[in-house]
Amino acid sequence: MRARECRARIELRWETGARNCPGQAQLKKHEKTMKKIDAIIKPFKLEEVKDALGELGIEGMTVSEVKGFGRQKGHTEIYRGSEYTVDFLPKIKIELVVADGQVDTAIGAIIKAAKTGKIGDGKVFVSSVEQAVRIRTEEKGESAV
Ligand SMILES: Nc1ncnc2c1ncn2[C@@H]1O[C@H](COP(=O)(O)OP(=O)(O)OP(=O)(O)O)[C@@H](O)[C@H]1O
Ligand SMILES: [Mg+2]
Repeated sequence: MRARECRARIELRWETGARNCPGQAQLKKHEKTMKKIDAIIKPFKLEEVKDALGELGIEGMTVSEVKGFGRQKGHTEIYRGSEYTVDFLPKIKIELVVADGQVDTAIGAIIKAAKTGKIGDGKVFVSSVEQAVRIRTEEKGESAV
């Protein structure tokens, strides 16, 4: 099996497949895969989402005030009691990098906390992260997040 394919199987925790990869049973600690979660949510849901993630032991996140629109193009959403007539609506973007094993739980917590059931509740995007470094200690990979 080609090294690249082995690596993919290990990262996907496809254990049977990975067992056929001699000498590659485990990735080195700093090579374990991590994911970045970008969650765009309604601003008033930030505290609730932050608390829910805190309860999971998530130890870091970045929050920004952003503007955006979804498929209604911002027109029909109500913000602070009045209908918005512009395209961009205020949203909060939460970015967090977590170990692969924490992704599903983190997404579940975000959805549970951020959902109102009305349009504009937001979206969650997940992408792969190659590396993370804690600058102070130079720890790398999962140990740094
Ligand atoms: N495809 C996208 N890429 C990047 N950001 C997006 C995308 N879709 C939505 N967003 C961001 O998420 C915010 C909320 O989107 P929203 O929840 O309105 O999506 P939607 O597809 O219109 O779903 P709904 O029908 O539930 O409103 C947007 O204001 C925008 O900031
Ligand atoms: Mg929408």
